[in-house]
Amino acid sequence: MTLPIEALKVTQNSTEMMWLLHDRAMKADGNILEVGTHVGSSALVFMNAMSLSNSDHMLVTVDPWGMKPYPSSRSKYGDDNQRDAIASLAVAARQFHTKWHHFKMTSLEFLKWADGKHAWYGGKQIPYQWGLAFLDGEHVFDTVHEEIMRVLPNLLPHGGILVDNANHQQPNGISMKVALAEVAIRNELSFNVHGFENDSMVVEMRKL
Ligand SMILES: C[S@@+](CC[C@H](N)C(=O)[O-])C[C@H]1O[C@@H](n2cnc3c(N)ncnc32)[C@H](O)[C@@H]1O
Repeated sequence: MTLPIEALKVTQNSTEMMWLLHDRAMKADGNILEVGTHVGSSALVFMNAMSLSNSDHMLVTVDPWGMKPYPSSRSKYGDDNQRDAIASLAVAARQFHTKWHHFKMTSLEFLKWADGKHAWYGGKQIPYQWGLAFLDGEHVFDTVHEEIMRVLPNLLPHGGILVDNANHQQPNGISMKVALAEVAIRNELSFNVHGFENDSMVVEMRKL
């Protein structure tokens, strides 16, 4: 198995983390939701994994781009990111036959809209329900918490949520990881922490 070389060329993520995403996407028994697309590197990894596992599910990506202020860092995510992502993901979706579509809006705008709705593929309705959700957008606890609470009702049994940048310190001094552990306990989710060679951290929560 390989990771798509295009993804590795443009990603800021560690290769180990890309392997985690790849592994969980291979095992996902349902649609994949990605919050925070940037130039499309993690979405390419998802497409690659879905193709290798002959997945019949959809990949839904969500990112407003457009220089939306990014509260947890000084990074700016501009319009060229959108062009790069849409261009490479459209080519890859064609190549991998991925059922992929993108929503150019914030995660919460999308999740509020998508609840109870469906997409159309091959003449069939596919509900916006998730086998895997990768939350890599705003990295502010209140936003991530609301994302989780809006994903959970549509998370399939044994479905997983991966939260990137879980090592981010929040303004109140509490780490994202600790705050997420409390969310996991309150919602009866399993909780795992994955650390990577560049000190980044992904929290994994799963419906028991
Ligand atoms: C760290 S990058 C994502 C990297 C990407 N997942 C990857 O691994 O290649 C963060 C992205 O989140 C987007 N973003 C920021 N706030 C967001 C929100 N509220 N909802 C969705 N995406 C958001 C930014 O525009 C940016 O492109």
